[in-house]
Amino acid sequence: MIGRLNHVALAVPDLAAATALYRDALGANVSAPQALPEHGVTVVFVELPNSKVELLEPLGEGSPIAKYLESNPAGGMHHICYEVDNLLAARDKLTATGARVLGDGTPKIGAHGKPVLFLHPKDFAGTLVELEQV
Ligand code: CO
Repeated sequence: MIGRLNHVALAVPDLAAATALYRDALGANVSAPQALPEHGVTVVFVELPNSKVELLEPLGEGSPIAKYLESNPAGGMHHICYEVDNLLAARDKLTATGARVLGDGTPKIGAHGKPVLFLHPKDFAGTLVELEQV
């Protein structure tokens, strides 16, 4: 059901510092920051030859990554995103097996302008999983 790895997302306490690390020390192309108030994050994309890394910094009150950064003050891996052809079909198939979708199960538009859903980490090997329809 899942297709390509779309991205790995890292929560970071300081987006400018993390951008400099990836751009200057690691020599990657890093996009300009993009504020996503509906997701409570500011994001940049690190473009790799075979995939992307997203760097996420909290934005506004009640950011979904604020609690993660409290437990992981230096930052860390926040979620992994897989591509699917049909997000609603994937959701229905997974919820039929008892897996939990975060929120009310309605897809939101993600950072790439495509519909996304998040799956509960306790149901997916301890990792928050994002599904993106491509
Ligand atoms: Co993501």
